[in-house]
Amino acid sequence: MKELKVELASRSYKIKIGQDVLQDLGQELQSVGFKGKLLIVTDENVSPLYADSCLESLEKSGFQTRVFSIPPGEESKSWMWAEQIFSAALDFNLDRDSGIVALGGGVVGDLAGFIAATYLRGVAYVQVPTTLLAQVDSSVGGKVAINHSRGKNMIGAFYQPRLVLIDLNTLDTLPFRELRSGMAEVIKYGVIRDDIFFKELYRNLVTTLEQEKEFLEYIVFKSCLIKADVVSVDEQEGGVRAILNFGHTLGHALEAATDYKYFNHGEALHYGMLLASRLACREGLLDLKSLNLIEDLLCRIGFKGLPPVLDADKIKKGLTYDKKRKEGKMIFILPERIGRVGIYDSISQEKVDKLLLDFFKEFY
Ligand SMILES: NC(=O)c1ccc[n+]([C@@H]2O[C@H](COP(=O)([O-])OP(=O)(O)OC[C@H]3O[C@@H](n4cnc5c(N)ncnc54)[C@H](O)[C@@H]3O)[C@@H](O)[C@H]2O)c1
Repeated sequence: MKELKVELASRSYKIKIGQDVLQDLGQELQSVGFKGKLLIVTDENVSPLYADSCLESLEKSGFQTRVFSIPPGEESKSWMWAEQIFSAALDFNLDRDSGIVALGGGVVGDLAGFIAATYLRGVAYVQVPTTLLAQVDSSVGGKVAINHSRGKNMIGAFYQPRLVLIDLNTLDTLPFRELRSGMAEVIKYGVIRDDIFFKELYRNLVTTLEQEKEFLEYIVFKSCLIKADVVSVDEQEGGVRAILNFGHTLGHALEAATDYKYFNHGEALHYGMLLASRLACREGLLDLKSLNLIEDLLCRIGFKGLPPVLDADKIKKGLTYDKKRKEGKMIFILPERIGRVGIYDSISQEKVDKLLLDFFKEFY
């Protein structure tokens, strides 16, 4: 098993990555101080696949357990489901010495983390991510949230888990679409922070994404290392943590323009990174050769096709929404070379409009 640490003083925690590690969940939780009761929050796809192995291990270690499954999908990251889980926790008499296990993808992780942050003013929790996206991104760093009808992730907190336990074997059952979505986040790490990692991905990633387990382990480890490093320096996104949002400004706008129904997070991010890289090149920040390498790698893993109709005004509205949150400025994370990005807040509306116009001409 590979291990690394998110260094956050008294809130530091380990990320453990390996194969068949679900069977060690009980022991792992004991080793970080969990005792008594555990509420396992999962979803209806993941539960039949992995809840039993977790339960067996937890019960062997003497934990009292209860499982709560939500319907899969973004819509469950809601106040309505949070309320249901709070009720289940109260029924189970979960107290402040008890804990929560988030077993699933980013939806489960964000929701269960939000419950942990707020139930009885905070109980300990552990992330057991089962999608590639959750393994390389959402389970690390303590951003927990639910959605509001006016926007994604509007209600939430920074609340770090006590442990992240990653079982690579859970990826065996992950649909290709979800694997590709996670791989977009992996490529992001190469572009923002590590040109050698980018080259390794460039050399080795195959279109089917059927990677050797060893290489997959390396990819997950390396991605977590980069995320842990950034989060350790800037836990609450006061500065450098913003670089993790490379591709997100335009990606979010695309998600919003399609009512969060057409693209999943990684698919929208994929286009967002393409557009941000092109913008960087137009701004003279990134050379054409590097842009081509980034585009090549993104194309290799394959884009989800665009919807038959896409409204440019809705994308612009999505960008203004982002703007509202950042004191009236659109923030773009733009690559300056592969392995380094900068934070830019003065790209004019005209330049963004032109970028979108050309994008529409190319695809519609
Ligand atoms: N907190 C953060 O820092 C952060 C970062 C990025 C994304 N996110 C959030 O993460 C969410 C997206 O996460 P996601 O992409 O993991 O989506 P998800 O949680 O919806 O999972 C995708 C699908 O895969 C299924 N699934 C999960 N694991 C499986 C497995 N091992 N085998 C088969 N099916 C499996 C799920 O049931 C679901 O249908 C979004 O809500 C996004 O906002 C949070």
